[in-house]
Amino acid sequence: PRAEPCVLVIFGATGDLTQRKLIPALFSLANNQCLASDFQIIGIGRREMDDARFREQLREGVAQSSEIRAFKEAAWNDFASRISYLSGNFLEPDTYQSLAERLAEFSTANRLFYLATAPSATPVIIQRLADVGLEREDRGFSRLVVEKPFGHDLESARELNRLIAEVFEERQVYRIDHYLGKETVQNVLFFRFGNALFESVWNRNHVEYVEITAAESLGVGSRAGYYQESGALRDMVANHLLQLLALTAMDAPVELDADSVNDKKAEVWRSIRPMTSDEVASRTVRAQYVASTIDGASVPGWHEEPNVPSDSRTETYVALDLRIDNWRWAGVPFYLRTGKRLARQVTEIAVHFRQPPLSFFPCQDCLQSNVIILRIQPDEGISLTFGAKEPGTSRRAVPVSMDFCYHSAFAEAPPSAYAVLLLDALRGDLTQFTRCDGVEAQWRIMTPIETAWAACDGVSLPTYAAGSEGPHEADGLLEWNGHAWRSIG
Ligand code: BG6
Repeated sequence: PRAEPCVLVIFGATGDLTQRKLIPALFSLANNQCLASDFQIIGIGRREMDDARFREQLREGVAQSSEIRAFKEAAWNDFASRISYLSGNFLEPDTYQSLAERLAEFSTANRLFYLATAPSATPVIIQRLADVGLEREDRGFSRLVVEKPFGHDLESARELNRLIAEVFEERQVYRIDHYLGKETVQNVLFFRFGNALFESVWNRNHVEYVEITAAESLGVGSRAGYYQESGALRDMVANHLLQLLALTAMDAPVELDADSVNDKKAEVWRSIRPMTSDEVASRTVRAQYVASTIDGASVPGWHEEPNVPSDSRTETYVALDLRIDNWRWAGVPFYLRTGKRLARQVTEIAVHFRQPPLSFFPCQDCLQSNVIILRIQPDEGISLTFGAKEPGTSRRAVPVSMDFCYHSAFAEAPPSAYAVLLLDALRGDLTQFTRCDGVEAQWRIMTPIETAWAACDGVSLPTYAAGSEGPHEADGLLEWNGHAWRSIG
């Protein structure tokens, strides 16, 4: 279904996110006839430039985007004619006056404000929008899309929610987490609740432990300034990984609508008790990568990256053992890990089932137990590992797997996460966005970890070689319980 007519206003229009993600996603939506004919984009940025220059800049991003498989000049020109630029400072009331005047020229009164700006700009933009009445929905809708990071701890997230609530109603607010737009992530609920087979064993009676991994082989690129302040916990765990955890662990929602789904996720997060500082010491590992050689090329360590202070204590890797204290999951560890500059890019959820009560077959003990692996990216798919009899006279059991692979099962590549979520926002569907209580519940779990870490600022951090599987301390986290990470090598 098509999106409603709308003017999309992007704050931070000359930034990386707009160029690399938002515009390619919108262009692909336009190519697939998903946008209304009355759809317009206004980019706001501080730099002085005319529409033609702005469009040219965006064109470069689109032409380089892997999302656009065949770039057609005519299609781009048609799309670009809907884009205009407004140069202005976010702090200045004049900018909003000009914006209001510009918006009044369009026939549609529907507006979507996308904040692709530094988080510190969010409060003032919201306030200034309200000063000129742009949050009002007299003749059409007014919606706000807020990017992560949503605050940097529980207190700041609460404050931000409070500020937003003074101006917008919750149903107008789209807190975006791009992981929720990924096809494989959306499939988690379909896999679990669309099949009777799996859900009956999806609980503490059958599951031994769950691993959620988001490993990246790349470093921080040009984002060291941001990452230095955030670190792996805030950048990846406080949002993306906790979303994956919630989708894996939540109970069935009453319906597949925004409130029902967000209610069930919030229950999961609320069931995770915030850690004490002793628990932080025994159930979390943070580390930094050090220089190494990958495929013959030397790769710098975190401290040698441009713009990183030599005494930086920012973690580029984190592993956690989280516990969900509810009837379904009590006693089952949920291990989360993520890091930059690891051996390979892989995001997956691995659900490990208990061993059979008795083992008859030689070598059965050395088999991995049954594991369901939801491969989020790359090589998207789902596999189930189990033991089979080795052919011939052997009585040995060997590990084999059943495999579902998106590329072979479906001809068409899925749309990008941003395309999916932008379309949802244009259609008014909040199901894949985080509700105000959700972000607070996420920070309630994360903030005690940050606080306990900050309190041990004299202790040196574990390290791992760039291109490796992570610090050996992370193995210890699982060995303690007789478990082991899956290899990411
Ligand atoms: C972003 C983080 O939210 O997600 C980045 O800020 C990270 O540091 C990125 O690289 C990972 O997203 P994806 O879609 O490539 O897994």
